[in-house]
Amino acid sequence: MTRQAASAPRRLDFATELTRWEYAAAPETTKVEIAPRYGHFIGGEFVGPIGGGGHFASVNPATEQPLCEVAQGSEADVDAAVRAARDALPAWAGLPGKERAKYIYRIARRIQERARELAVLETIDGGKPIRESRDVDIPLAAAHFFYHAGWADKLGFAFAGHEPKPVGVCGQIIPWNFPLLMAAWKLAPALACGNTCVLKPAETTPLTALRLAEICAEVGLPPGVVNVVTGDGRTGAAVVNHPGVDKIAFTGSTEVGKKIAAAVAGTGKRLTLELGGKSPNIIFEDASIDQAVEGIVEGIYFNQGHVCCAGSRLFVQESVLDEVVEKLRIRMASLRVGDPLDKNTDIGAINSMQQLATIRRYVEAGVAEGARLHEVNGHPLPDRGYWCRPSFFTGVQPSHVVAREEIFGPVLAVMSFRTPEEAITRANNTPYGLAAGVWTDKGSKIFEIARRLKAGVVWLNTYNKFDPASPFGGFKESGFGREGGLQGLRSYVQL
Ligand code: NAI
Ligand code: MG
Repeated sequence: MTRQAASAPRRLDFATELTRWEYAAAPETTKVEIAPRYGHFIGGEFVGPIGGGGHFASVNPATEQPLCEVAQGSEADVDAAVRAARDALPAWAGLPGKERAKYIYRIARRIQERARELAVLETIDGGKPIRESRDVDIPLAAAHFFYHAGWADKLGFAFAGHEPKPVGVCGQIIPWNFPLLMAAWKLAPALACGNTCVLKPAETTPLTALRLAEICAEVGLPPGVVNVVTGDGRTGAAVVNHPGVDKIAFTGSTEVGKKIAAAVAGTGKRLTLELGGKSPNIIFEDASIDQAVEGIVEGIYFNQGHVCCAGSRLFVQESVLDEVVEKLRIRMASLRVGDPLDKNTDIGAINSMQQLATIRRYVEAGVAEGARLHEVNGHPLPDRGYWCRPSFFTGVQPSHVVAREEIFGPVLAVMSFRTPEEAITRANNTPYGLAAGVWTDKGSKIFEIARRLKAGVVWLNTYNKFDPASPFGGFKESGFGREGGLQGLRSYVQL
């Protein structure tokens, strides 16, 4: 019996059946206090703004309600933050590593203690399901501080034969898809290596970074070691262009990454960039198909597809294409889209109206180019808020926009291949190179293919798994430099 005959998909009517089953609502009940208005965190206290930037609202994308006002950082605000960081640098850099570690451990523990509050705040400010902020973002943020606290007194072993010195004042600009986690990725290694920081969170998700600033004050971190300046791209640009900054670390769009690279060129500032992706997820016919379908879902529908390493191009071996597509339809129909504070929710709100418009433009472009849109999820959506049902395209040509450009939403492009050679060629046919997934039962195939994929991370029979000990970063237009692990320390030390 051929493999195909053995596993020929049964036509189940699950897609409609599943949407009839209703769970009772399971709302998160933790209440979080939010001040009506926040300043910047500079020199150990909340101040300002100065320089006339004023304030703007951070909105809950699930309700479209403003949560509070935050400051729009001006050049004067950024200058004050950079000065505070500069003033704090000699004492912080001069502390023995084991003393710096104590502060970083304290931050990690305090994140754990305030985990539920941080998770709720992350969810209401950014729209991601509470299940993810509670089980992924916040625990991983704490883990990053724990992990890097451990390195603070062992840098001599990390860079044996050298005397590692801090780089200086680090300007760190982060996006809205993993707000607290990205703050942890940036701050923890910088602090462990004796640097001081000016962090600029994204304009739609500043609230957990401001809580983290509060935690830094609570644990007695010396004033000026961590500064948080809120605001939009203009504030980010002011950080990039400030002459008192020694290193820029940026995570965000390739477009802004290129601008930053141009601005920093010739200034002597160090730069690391973690940019976009269009990562391939490759399913071979010998894979465990049910497991792979879970991996596809995890790869593209996790966090509304707001993931730089999302498995947004699916390559399925031709012999199992029908089976995978049918199982994906069934699984997708069961995903629960809606209130991010409901513990049953799988897919929350799209982070902003702009991002929703971007995703819709891509979906329209996919249809216009002739790909077939599958939108089988019929889960009722709330009346207000920014929502996007999970979907996927079949009949996608490599030249289609949905196969080439980063959509950053819950939209998957499904394509097929015949041979491993073809899978590798097509997977690598992209200007990006952040991540990839490979699903197969064969160990030898795993290693051969992983070796030949041009991607910073290759997941084998899993997807979107993160660990502070494992370096993350891209090839080609996905950026350069690594974050996490021993390799991630390298950009925060001078040897
Ligand atoms: P963005 O790149 O504009 O925003 C990221 C951060 O950069 C934010 O903190 C923003 O305030 C700051 N920024 C913006 N312009 C800047 C400038 N000229 N100089 C310095 N900092 C600046 O990303 P945006 O507009 O929110 O999203 C657009 C697209 O970017 C998304 O659709 C997605 O494809 C991609 N993206 C990728 C991310 C990743 O993790 N690789 C994260 C966020 C977005
Ligand atoms: Mg918000």
